[in-house]
Parts: sequence; structure tokens; C-alpha cells
Amino acid sequence: MMSDPDALTTKEEAEEEAGGQGWGGLRPQKAKEEKYKGYKIGQKVGQHGTYLGERGIYDERNQLNDLTGREWALFSKSWFIHNPPPRKKNEVLHPAKFPESMIGDFIKFFTKKGELVLDPMAGTGSTLVACDKTGRKGVGVELIKKWADIARQRTAQTVIQGDARALVNLLRENGITQVDFAITSPPYWNMLKKSRGHVLSLQKQRKEQGLDEYYSEDSNDLGNLEDYNTYLNSLHEVYTQVNRVLRPGRYLVVIVQNILTPEGVMVPFAWDLAKKLSNIYILKQERLWLQNNKLLGIWGYPSRYVSNVHHHYCLIFEKTSAKAAGD
Ligand SMILES: C[S@@+](CC[C@H](N)C(=O)[O-])C[C@H]1O[C@@H](n2cnc3c(N)ncnc32)[C@H](O)[C@@H]1O
Repeated sequence: MMSDPDALTTKEEAEEEAGGQGWGGLRPQKAKEEKYKGYKIGQKVGQHGTYLGERGIYDERNQLNDLTGREWALFSKSWFIHNPPPRKKNEVLHPAKFPESMIGDFIKFFTKKGELVLDPMAGTGSTLVACDKTGRKGVGVELIKKWADIARQRTAQTVIQGDARALVNLLRENGITQVDFAITSPPYWNMLKKSRGHVLSLQKQRKEQGLDEYYSEDSNDLGNLEDYNTYLNSLHEVYTQVNRVLRPGRYLVVIVQNILTPEGVMVPFAWDLAKKLSNIYILKQERLWLQNNKLLGIWGYPSRYVSNVHHHYCLIFEKTSAKAAGD
């Protein structure tokens, strides 16, 4: 038995739960296995714990998710490597979708089974497919019919076609007034329409294959806004709407990148957005998504530094009751 039956949330137990990957100099996984030798899966550990084998120990006081202490600690690391698997036929049609497996990890951390997840700019519905895979309910809003239709082919979750700036009303019309978590990725300003370095080569490839190079010509598509401040303000409008339906104490994750202009100047979009949303949310942290399987281009060689940008920022915001916007 554990020496301190109530101690699952102490630093020491959390360190142990992390399998020695936590705060340094920790008990190795082997020692932990030794300690729980003879335990059966589902067996009580102390007053609040349940032994879940290699997964670790689940604490019934967990308010946020269904993870063990070990799984919780592993997710809390501020970076991760995720190499997206090749896209399927109907997924490749969309110019910028994110991988369901990665979104699934966020959903598992920020919700419990059966809770409701929102993506206000759902594209072809990757968030909703991740909800299917993790046993959550999902609702997605997408402006462009073509992408909304593909999302509907991929999942039976709720897909609403409309402008995310009218999110609260769109959800209400569908009987939804509150969601437990939101995760999304916006158009990265108008960058899919600007030719530069790796984007030029990607655009060329997509054109040759007869695929769309950008989302749409629709004037409500935020990826078609020319002025950067107008674009940032429009995103602020969208995430203010999200704030109004998000359950207090819960989280919004926005996946973004800093942007390189064709002139080779970095627009710090991820940082600008983080700062801008800090007046309606608590900015908690970024998680860096690192991609380690992308081909390297040799863009500026041999005279100028041009980066291969192979990372994204997953910005994590918390809604508190005090900071709820528009309530
Ligand atoms: C980066 S993509 C999202 C891709 C999505 N995560 C996926 O995996 O398929 C951004 C999406 O925002 C949509 N969008 C642009 N402006 C919008 C608006 N005003 N309201 C709702 N969706 C919008 C675009 O059509 C595009 O599909």
C-alpha cells in the first residue's frame, strides 16, 4: 500500500506518477512498478486513487479529465513532437488541416468523456473526427460550404455552416449555449495567397494536382483580409464569441504560427494574438508543436538567412468567471 494514502496530489507522488520524467532526479519507472507489484487494474489506492496499470493512478477528485497523474504530467511538458500521418483523399482537398491524432491529445487533457468540444473554424472537421475517436461530442462552425460538406462526410457530429463572428447565435439556433472546451486554428492572415519560399513550392504542387491553394474568395473569409489589424480584430471578435459560450474555468487552444512575408520579414502573429486575447482570457502557456519529418528547403542559400519554420504555437487560454467577456 502507499505510505500516505491521500498523497496522490503531492509533488512527490506526481513526480512518481510522471515515471521519473518530472522534476528531475526521480524514482525510475522500474521502482514504481515494484511498488505496485501485485496490484490489479481497477484496485483502490489510498482513499482517492484507482490503479490503472502502466497508465498510472487515476484520482477520483480529477475535475478536468480522465487522465492519471502520470499522463497529466507528461502532457504538461511545454513542447511535443508530432509528425502528421499522410492525408487521405478527401482530407488533402483542404489547404491546411491539422492532424486528428494531435488534436485528440488536447481533447483528452482538456475534457472528460462525453463533454462537448467546439471548433469555431472547423475546416474539414478534424476536431470533430478527433471527438469521435476520443468519445466526446463535437460542434464545428465553418464558413465555406465546400469544407463544411467534407466535414459532414467525415463525421456525424454537428457541423454548422456560417460566420464564426456570429457564433453565439449560430450555436443557440442549434440548441447549444455552453461548451466544455474549444480548439481551433484560424487562417494565418492572407499568407496562403502570398508567394514565398516553401509556400510557393507547396502552392505549385497543389496547383499541378488541381487542388485549392487557399480557402475561398469569400469576403467573410478572414484569410482574405488585407489589413493585419483588421484581421487581428476580427479574430478577437471570434474568440470573444467563444468566450461567451465556454464554461468558466475551462480552456481555449488556438494553433498558430508566426508568419513570414514574401519580403522575408517575420510578422509575430502568434505573439500578437496571445497578447490581444489576454484581455478576455488568462494566457496560460504555449505548447510548441514541433514537426520533425518535413523536408528542409535551402531558401536563402548562399547569401541570406531564411528559416525553415517547422513549429507551431498551441496557445492555451483559460476562461475565469471574472474575465468572462460579454456576460
Ligand atoms: C486553418 S483552417 C482550419 C482547418 C481545420 N482545423 C482542419 O483541420 O480542417 C481555417 C478555416 O477557417 C475558415 N474560415 C475563414 N473565415 C471564417 C469565418 N469568418 N467563419 C468561419 N470559418 C472561417 C476557412 O474556410 C478555413 O477552413
